Amino acid sequence: MKKFVPSAAGEVVLVDEELPARRPSEVLVQVEAVGLNQSDLIHLSRPEKRWTPGIDVVGTVIEEAADDSGPTKGSRVVGVSARGGGAAEYAALGTGHLTVLPDSLSATDAACLPLAGITALRLYRQAAKFKPERVLITGAGGAVGHFLTEIWARAGAEVTVVAGNGHARLTELGATVALQRVDEVTGTFDTAYDSVGGHSFERALAATAPFGHLYWYGQSSGEPVKIDYFDLIGGPRGVTVRQFLWAAPGYSDAEDLREIVGMVQGRTLRPTVGSVRDWSEISASLAEIRARRIRGKAVVTVGG
Ligand SMILES: NC(=O)c1ccc[n+]([C@@H]2O[C@H](COP(=O)([O-])OP(=O)(O)OC[C@H]3O[C@@H](n4cnc5c(N)ncnc54)[C@H](OP(=O)(O)O)[C@@H]3O)[C@@H](O)[C@H]2O)c1
Repeated sequence: MKKFVPSAAGEVVLVDEELPARRPSEVLVQVEAVGLNQSDLIHLSRPEKRWTPGIDVVGTVIEEAADDSGPTKGSRVVGVSARGGGAAEYAALGTGHLTVLPDSLSATDAACLPLAGITALRLYRQAAKFKPERVLITGAGGAVGHFLTEIWARAGAEVTVVAGNGHARLTELGATVALQRVDEVTGTFDTAYDSVGGHSFERALAATAPFGHLYWYGQSSGEPVKIDYFDLIGGPRGVTVRQFLWAAPGYSDAEDLREIVGMVQGRTLRPTVGSVRDWSEISASLAEIRARRIRGKAVVTVGG
């Protein structure tokens, strides 16, 4: 089968390889579409890891799981593969990490859902128990930010987003205030989210209300953060900063994907497809993510 593998740091090339080895709890899917993530860029920066891009995978089951745990042959599924591998004609997907797709959902829309949808849903749930009224989301121009904005807006929160552009879409999804730069943020927020790091994190922390919560789920800028204990005293004293990683014990990817697909069907969660390309142009899609030119999710269609 054909699949993309690293050729040099950040570069990929199409090669012929054996079908992926499968665990008993994995199905083999013929891939239809793949969503790309910043994680792909991070892994591809180290070519020795032999990372095949594609954590977000949509396809049709052509071989069932050996342990009979999964959907039957012919089922169309969407799944999350923590070890990548989607940018290939065929991919292995764990039955605990996928759900069956309704016919009404397109492959490109479905490819937006796995990692970004799961991350947004879990970030929402962690904070929802504190019933925040005002929520700040920095780095909101990406796939996670779009979902998080819509989920919080539907929950009734006043949502302020920071994104380089694409404000019309974020407003359509329910953002109350859309800002271009984090330095424009005013007021305080019960819950804040940052995935940019550096100055963005520091501003988000400063804007968190006393005893509020700041969820830290990425570092797109690559810049570490600096926190001064004394700065917090006159500002977000008593703040809880919670580092977040989507893959953690206690979560069910299959259940969450089912919930997310249900939300999309019910029109309470709307995928934002920022770009769709044939997989022969995957390098261009990766370059667009790197250059911050994608609003929402970059999708590639496979095998066409
Ligand atoms: N912790 C987890 O489990 C988890 C799961 C999924 C993703 N993540 C991380 O969460 C972040 C967002 O994910 P995503 O899928 O939404 O990514 P994405 O689609 O690539 O969006 C990232 C956004 O960050 C903004 N950004 C601001 N400053 C940036 C900088 N210096 N460099 C790069 N981007 C910058 C960009 O928006 P503007 O150009 O509009 O400013 C961009 O749209 C990423 O860092 C990702 O690695 C973490």
